[in-house]
Amino acid sequence: MNFEYAAAPESRSVVKIDPVYGHFINGKWVNGSAHFNTINPATEEVLSSISLGSAADVDAAVKAARNAFDKSWSKLSGRERGKYLFRIARIMQERAREFAVLETLDNGKPIRESRDVDVPLSAAHFFYHAGWADKLEFAGVDTTTAPHGVVGQIIPWNFPLLMLAWKVAPALATGNTVVLKPAETTSLTALLFAQVCQQAGLPDGVVNIVTGDGSTGSAIVNHPGIDKIAFTGSTEVGKLIARAVAPTNKSLTLELGGKGANIVFGDAAIDETVEGIVNGIFFNQGHVCCAGSRLILQENVADEVLEKLKRRMDKIRVGDPLDKNTDLGAINSAEQLAKIRELTAAGEAEGAGRWSANCALPENGFWFAPTIFTGVTQAHRIAREEIFGPVLSVLTFRTPAEAIEKANNTPFGLSAGIWSEKGSNILWATQQLRAGVIWANTFNKFDPASPFGGYKESGWGREGGRHGLSAYLKGSAK
Ligand code: NAI
Ligand code: MG
Repeated sequence: MNFEYAAAPESRSVVKIDPVYGHFINGKWVNGSAHFNTINPATEEVLSSISLGSAADVDAAVKAARNAFDKSWSKLSGRERGKYLFRIARIMQERAREFAVLETLDNGKPIRESRDVDVPLSAAHFFYHAGWADKLEFAGVDTTTAPHGVVGQIIPWNFPLLMLAWKVAPALATGNTVVLKPAETTSLTALLFAQVCQQAGLPDGVVNIVTGDGSTGSAIVNHPGIDKIAFTGSTEVGKLIARAVAPTNKSLTLELGGKGANIVFGDAAIDETVEGIVNGIFFNQGHVCCAGSRLILQENVADEVLEKLKRRMDKIRVGDPLDKNTDLGAINSAEQLAKIRELTAAGEAEGAGRWSANCALPENGFWFAPTIFTGVTQAHRIAREEIFGPVLSVLTFRTPAEAIEKANNTPFGLSAGIWSEKGSNILWATQQLRAGVIWANTFNKFDPASPFGGYKESGWGREGGRHGLSAYLKGSAK
């Protein structure tokens, strides 16, 4: 049984959504020649009409970014660049409620998360990089080298504003100018960010935002005037981009998918672990590249963990993302919901045991109940493919070596989690795991100072921290 709470919806009155948006090119709004709708995935209400960027729009944005790089941005000292970044960070904080409500409306994530995670972390990324802008010679990066110039950045829909911050803040701190494309289902906070750039008095053309779909992204990737591409999204598109960029001089960083192993040893503190498992897979509806989507349980505690996990999952509140009590919001799009349904149907067909939390789902919009699969084997699609939804695949192990073997048996290598009371066990396991980020007795913790990135098909390069800075300077690894 859940406690009954009265509805506590956050007010929409703080945001003003225009009926139509253009691109933000050279500091001005430029209407596109074609448009598409962006909707609220919790209700299917049309929020606005967004410009579909053409090759000509991308070309105008690249020219503006080149001009800004040559004429203004590359001539400023790090200290002056830092001032702009500090100003942007402070305005983001001042307008935090507006950003949070807009993100929740356009993306479907709970307001509790957009308000407490996405927006504060986005501002933190600007503060962090503002601090580095005039101190690059102390960052351990090669400062005899220069910024790339014009950077093309393509981001996904799961953390729209935060991924923008991960991309734009280090690019500007190191002296590059930017052409950024948000994902087609979540453009609104990027367009609000464009207004913040205007408010901060950022020189025209330093940040350009071209909205659109994969065709717009492809026009950015293939534009000869771009010096570096930074991409976050699916492994499939990451591979396409790697092929397109290979015969050119462009630098490339890729942050792609994951199938994170969350390993629970028999000596773990079970109640805390259950909270960590829930946070690992149900945070942001499981639309998280580093989600702990494979739970790997030591056999002697498996029954106890699963029983407590199911009890806890029945208390997850699913529903109106604007309600401050909501834990799990809407699936971002009909396409993503179809993908989750396809993979979960495959899980049942291949013989895994399905269990879903007992929750009522709203009638309109895109929803999926928190679900776990037990009896999953390494060969099942739900153990190998990224589901990117609130679905957990459970495997078991007897010996620590078997846990590592299973955890590493994946084409991905982005994140992993370890739950154990024993420090030596944790240190041993972290050395064996092939994953870019490993959490111990916690999960999904992020900080701008900590580098983030993957092994194998999870991508190339690191974002955040000092490692992330070097990717925006010439001479870094391609
Ligand atoms: P996607 O990779 O198609 O989209 C990500 C971004 O790339 C969007 O801005 C999109 O417009 C752009 N894009 C698409 N095709 C492109 C192309 N040919 N050239 C340049 N840019 C292009 O991801 P999608 O279709 O939204 O999601 C599919 C699956 O990808 C998800 O189910 C999930 O498994 C994975 N994914 C992983 C993410 C991560 O954070 N690593 C984020 C989003 C999706
Ligand atoms: Mg939307």
